[in-house]
Amino acid sequence: ANIILLGPPGAGKGTQAKRLEETRGMVQLSTGDMLKEAIAKGTDLGRRVEGIMARGELVTDEIVIGLIEAKMTEGARGGFIFDGFPRTLKQADALAELMARTGSRLDRVIEMQVDDAALVERITGRFTCGNCGAVYHDRTHPTKVPGVCDACGSTDLRRRADDNAETLKTRLMEYYKKTSPLIGYYYAKGVLTSVDGLADVDTVSSAIAAVLD
Ligand code: AP5
Ligand code: ZN
Repeated sequence: ANIILLGPPGAGKGTQAKRLEETRGMVQLSTGDMLKEAIAKGTDLGRRVEGIMARGELVTDEIVIGLIEAKMTEGARGGFIFDGFPRTLKQADALAELMARTGSRLDRVIEMQVDDAALVERITGRFTCGNCGAVYHDRTHPTKVPGVCDACGSTDLRRRADDNAETLKTRLMEYYKKTSPLIGYYYAKGVLTSVDGLADVDTVSSAIAAVLD
């Protein structure tokens, strides 16, 4: 199946996408991760987007559509999980066109509903493994051994430059202005399902599994 995980920053899109990769052999396509990788590698693209992302604004549609297009043409047997893409109506139209061109279809859009207060708490407590990408939280999901990734044993645990209360305000504003119209867009297409993103990680996973089965 091909699905979109739609929701504000900190809704748990990345957390659930990683689980779907493990349990269903689906392939996560996170434009946020692709852009962060470009920054880490110091590519031209990375230099162009670094400041924009640090401020919490969206990068241009052309950039992310190009990144998605390159990955989609590789194909995925278990289907794609679009995580953090599309984020504008223009990106949604571009995705529809890419799907038509690659002979695939969008099965479901899963909206993860979380209120703003919870998002602040999640974002400011988040850290990730620089080696394998596993996502943790100081309070709700710490590593078993402090400073060591459960999944791969790496000690390279990092916090994101844009995970502070100030930048989060801009990220939320961008979400409500530019991304939330996609809820109506996909509802009208009859592919939208909303799940309670405030529930614990396992409960959210079960809700998503119920949608997919
Ligand atoms: P991106 O990397 O996509 O960030 P985001 O949308 O802000 O989403 P996050 O990664 O912050 O949140 P998430 O929903 O994945 O939550 P997570 O699972 O980590 O984008 C970054 C930037 O790149 C953008 O600002 C923009 O500049 C640019 N960009 C990217 N894509 C773009 C596009 N298409 N167009 C234009 N610009 C683009 O969970 C968060 C925390 O909560 C973790 O600590 C986790 O452990 C915890 N948690 C998760 N689920 C639960 C739960 N159920 N209960 C308790 N805690 C939980
Ligand atoms: Zn790891």
